[in-house]
Amino acid sequence: MEFPFDLAPVLGDRFCVVDQHLRPAGRPGGTVKREELEQQLRTVIDELGKASAKAQGLSTPVTSAARMESNRHVLYILRDTRCPRGAVLGFLKVGYKKLFLLERDGSHVEVEPLCVLDFYIHESQQRRGLGRELFREMLQRERVQPHKLAVDRPSEKLLGFLRKHFGLCDLIPQVNNFVIFEGFFSTRTAPARRPFPRPRPEEPIKPYSLSERHFLREEPEPPWPFNLGRGSPVRGSLRPFLVRRETPPGTPPGTPPGTETPPEPPPRRASSLGRVGR
Ligand code: ACO
Repeated sequence: MEFPFDLAPVLGDRFCVVDQHLRPAGRPGGTVKREELEQQLRTVIDELGKASAKAQGLSTPVTSAARMESNRHVLYILRDTRCPRGAVLGFLKVGYKKLFLLERDGSHVEVEPLCVLDFYIHESQQRRGLGRELFREMLQRERVQPHKLAVDRPSEKLLGFLRKHFGLCDLIPQVNNFVIFEGFFSTRTAPARRPFPRPRPEEPIKPYSLSERHFLREEPEPPWPFNLGRGSPVRGSLRPFLVRRETPPGTPPGTPPGTETPPEPPPRRASSLGRVGR
C-alpha cells in the first residue's frame, strides 16, 4: 500500500507502534513540518482502516485516526522499507477491554484482557508470513502469550491463522462476539464465580461485553489526565500510563479485590446491532 509521501519520517522502521497520541516516528526535517507528518500519519491510519474494513466486509472502518485518539489502543504498523518511499504492508490493533466471559463450567467472570481488535495484511502480501511476523512483534512488546488474548469477532482467515501459528483451536464458547481459547483462564487466581443467569425463553441472549465493532455505542475516552479515573490497566506499550485501581463505591470494607458485584449489563438497544455480519 503506497502513499504520495515518504513513509520513513512518518513510520520509522519496519515496525511502527502508534498510541492515542498519534506521534509520527521521525523528526521533522528539511521542508517537512511536524504538523505535516502528523497529518500523513492520520492519512496512513485512515487508509489502513478502510482497507481492513473492505477486506472484512464491514460497512464502517473499525480503525481510524479519530478512533485511535479517543481510545487507549495500540496500533502496530508493518512497513516494507525496501521500496523508495516505503509501502505499508499491514497493521494490527490491540487494546485492553473489560469483558464478562464464560468459563467452561458456565460461571462468568469479569476480566480485562488484551484484545485483538483489528488485523489486516494487504491482499497482495497475504500468506507470506507477514501476519505472523507482525503478531509476534505485538506479543513480544505487549509481553502477552497468545492464549491470554481475547479476539473481537475473528474472521475465518484469522481463526485459521491463530490455529496454524499458535495452536489456538480449542474455543471456550461465549455469548458475546469475543473468542477466547483453552488456557485463557489457566493462571487466574480466586475468580469471583457466579452462575451465569439463563436467558428467559422469550428473550434472545444479550451480548454482555462491548465489542470493538459496537463502536457507535462506545463512549469516547477523555484525553489524559482526565481519563485516569477510568481504571483501565495499561501494560506493554502503554505502561507509562499505568494507574492504581480504585475500589468501586459502595463496596463493604474488607471486600477482597475482584469479588465486588459486577455492574449490570448494558441496556439493550435494538438499533445498536447494526453491524454487518461476515
Ligand atoms: N484463507 C484462509 N486462511 C488464510 C488466508 C486465506 N485467504 N490468509 C491467511 N490465512 C491463514 C491461514 O492459516 C494461512 O496459512 P496457510 O497459507 O498455510 O493456509 C495463514 O493465515 C498464513 O499466515 P500469514 O502469512 O502469517 O498470515 P497473513 O500475512 O496472510 O495475515 C491475516 C493473516 C491478517 C488474517 C490476513 O489474511 C488478512 O488480512 N485477512 C483479511 C482481513 C481479516 O480477515 N482480518 C482479521 C479480521 S478479525 C479481527 O481483526 C479481530
